[in-house]
Amino acid sequence: MRAAAVCVFLAAAVWAQEPTPRQRAEGAINDLGRVLQQLLGEEMKHGGYAGAVRSCAENAQTVTEEFGRERQVDIRRVSLKYRNQRDQPDDWEAERLKAWLKQAEAGAALAPVEETVTENGRRFLRMMKPIRLQAACLGCHGAREQLAPEVKAQLEAKYPRDKATGYKTGDLRGAFTVLVRLP
Ligand code: HEC
Repeated sequence: MRAAAVCVFLAAAVWAQEPTPRQRAEGAINDLGRVLQQLLGEEMKHGGYAGAVRSCAENAQTVTEEFGRERQVDIRRVSLKYRNQRDQPDDWEAERLKAWLKQAEAGAALAPVEETVTENGRRFLRMMKPIRLQAACLGCHGAREQLAPEVKAQLEAKYPRDKATGYKTGDLRGAFTVLVRLP
């Protein structure tokens, strides 16, 4: 009896620790945000803005993919004005980004969105969280004519069809987007 009671207690404790799909989605978004910020910070320390563009171009996608694999979620960054073609939003994402743009223009706060979707017979929780531009981002996403010449040169070399300049502080830059498989 005693052993059984202990087992039930342990099972309950383990169950209580198991994160919900929503917690997994939120956690992945917040942690990937921190990982990328840290990566950017280190690259800036070593190579300044231009060096950081070079290493961002090489690392941002692989770091994101590896992070998603590790967490067993499908996570990306997307933008209507993307720099990397691979950050192009799908229809669902583009719709949300456009709705947020309207809200931002009206001065409203932007809240994350979530929805349960079925794809190829599998159920997923989809979540998207807005990314707004901070002053620290202007050196690579601000007005094109205000970018340092070496940053401009790097961007032109790596991203000839770059759409991700011309932003001001507070603008909606894009979003984190994540899919978590539901049981
Ligand atoms: C040193 C230059 C640099 C700085 C500073 C910088 N970025 Fe970027 N950003 C890039 C590059 C390069 C890419 C493309 C990375 C890739 O190829 O995946 C990018 C991509 C992105 C993307 C993915 C969507 C897209 O356009 O492809 C988002 C979102 C983003 N940046 C937001 C920010 C925010 C927010 C800040 C400030 C906190 C910031 N960036 C600061 C260079 C920079």
